[in-house]
Amino acid sequence: MPHPVPVLPEGVDPAWLPSAAFRPLGSRRTLIRGSGPLVETVHGEVAEACARFGGRVDRDAAPEPYDLVLELTGDDSSEAFGYERVDGRTTVTATGQRGLLYGFFHVVRLGEEAFGGDCQRVLHEPALGLRMVNHWDNVAVHPVMGQVERGYAGGSLFWADGRARGEFERVRAYGRLLAACGVNAVSVNNVNVHETEARLLTDRIGEVADIAGAFRPYGIRTHLSVTFAAPIVLDGLETADPLDERVREWWAGATARVYEAIPDFGGFVVKADSEGQPGPFAYGRTHADGANMLAAALEPHGGTVHWRAFVYDHRQDWRDRTTDRARAAYDHFLPLDGAFAANAVLQVKHGPMDFQVREPVSPLISAMSHSTLAVELQATQEYTGQQRHVCWLGPMWSEVLRFAADQEGPAFEELVAVSNVGDDPFWTGHPLAQANLYTFGRLAWQPDADPVVILDEWIGLTFGAGPAAGLHAVLDGSWRTYEKYTAPLGVGFMVQPGHHYGPSVDGYEYSPWGTYHFADRDGIGVDRSVASGTGYAGQYAKPWAEIYESPDTCPDELLLFFHHVPYGHVLKSGKTVIQHIYDTHFEGVAEVEEAARVWESLAGLVTPARHQRVTELFVEQLRCAREWRDQINSYFLRKSGVPDERGRVIY
Ligand code: GCU
Repeated sequence: MPHPVPVLPEGVDPAWLPSAAFRPLGSRRTLIRGSGPLVETVHGEVAEACARFGGRVDRDAAPEPYDLVLELTGDDSSEAFGYERVDGRTTVTATGQRGLLYGFFHVVRLGEEAFGGDCQRVLHEPALGLRMVNHWDNVAVHPVMGQVERGYAGGSLFWADGRARGEFERVRAYGRLLAACGVNAVSVNNVNVHETEARLLTDRIGEVADIAGAFRPYGIRTHLSVTFAAPIVLDGLETADPLDERVREWWAGATARVYEAIPDFGGFVVKADSEGQPGPFAYGRTHADGANMLAAALEPHGGTVHWRAFVYDHRQDWRDRTTDRARAAYDHFLPLDGAFAANAVLQVKHGPMDFQVREPVSPLISAMSHSTLAVELQATQEYTGQQRHVCWLGPMWSEVLRFAADQEGPAFEELVAVSNVGDDPFWTGHPLAQANLYTFGRLAWQPDADPVVILDEWIGLTFGAGPAAGLHAVLDGSWRTYEKYTAPLGVGFMVQPGHHYGPSVDGYEYSPWGTYHFADRDGIGVDRSVASGTGYAGQYAKPWAEIYESPDTCPDELLLFFHHVPYGHVLKSGKTVIQHIYDTHFEGVAEVEEAARVWESLAGLVTPARHQRVTELFVEQLRCAREWRDQINSYFLRKSGVPDERGRVIY
């Protein structure tokens, strides 16, 4: 039986799968060969498109003049598909069901192009085997963090009123959007696992199973964040020591019951010994001991533990100049390289700090030769405008992934993004933030893809050709624009403490969080050189250790991440640091003004609902960008006493 296509609840934005995207395929004749649940998903998709646009779909019929043949030729777990177009017929073949599903969405993406001209057989396969979205969703609304930690798109898609939503049509529709951009795994709860959420592992696993059931038809496996202290919290054991036999048995039993409920369960995500979460340090054990215990519980069932490397001292004394948070992941985990089980994946944030608008790539990524790594990106825009600002992160992610792939050492096998989705009608709050989720999925499939081509694809699917030029003008440079009006030259933070929205130059300067800029009357930046600083630069392999070591060779955009320099230091651009700060802040605001103007001109080319939401958000983005400009410029004018060469208004 063909699997029905999820019906979007009234008023929910179709994102990159509007019905118009299915016209080319839905108006033609398609043959589907093969059997299995995901083949039924594909059949349901094609049948729905044909019902709408007058085409026809057959199953396993004799050869006829079909325009499109979608054929499953095997029964393996491959996600690859072959695509060719010969003599007026387009053929997609796959040896695994997921491959067929991805091949189908490839045809959707190509639109009319899939049915014109000839194309020799091309094999498409994902470069990375796991492409996962992590939701930081709480089941119970958290008193400080709300329902979705760092969520800017309303409540959770999965959880409402303290339990799993009773109705999964929206989750199915979400799974469909994810599959269409290549995502194949989702974790459904926050990495900070509070009391209620801890129980999802045991007596509330049925709720997770329902969500997993909604995702399954689109080839998505469900994962769960668990607390390391689960045996204590849930069952009153007096220890969670990973080497204690009772603890190991507890996890083995709990995990076996998870698999009874969800046979294709993906595994656990764990934040341990991080920002107050429990972990193996309490028992004098290593993070490999901790991860391997969970890996052992998952191994008989084919599951994986994603163990996060975001481990640092969040109670640092700001007076202490020897501790450097940027060093922490490498210092903690490098000694454990080779000690992790085969099904334990180390999940590393892309930068050494915390998802700032500009950071160097974490040196840990290319240092762990004997471990499996997942790189973690943040689609939710915690530090990049909180989905009130336009900030398309494709170029940043692309730079990060290319840098990581270009190193001598090993690269990474998996890509993870913290989700930016909630129950907002536009999915991501800001309608243009959908581009970040889409870009993530496509980059996870092909990390060296050109992000602008991906954006173009997203625009074409979501909006059609009409507003494409305007949307590129608004989005292409939006990350660099955001960088210009916020914290300069890689120094990071300068945000309001707690919620992290809007400027507060010294908001974290004397805090325990380890995120300082050290601005004084003479200069600014963090000395992370080996020669005179914290030594962080030495965590890189050559040539980067040398490049970052000296302010003369360090790239401008990271100068203040690696060095403390005088305001008069001349950048490679030829400008002084202080003049760069002034200029970029004026430019950044001017660029937002221009983007808002371009957006205004797109009225009539995009749906009124989208146009109105983005227009409203531009008002806030402009207000906030001006606030950033004026606070940053005033602060540094007052600190340095150096006037703006161009005599502009600084307060
Ligand atoms: C950031 C974020 C937290 C989150 C943490 C993490 O620090 O502000 O809300 O829990 O990252 O990645 O674990």
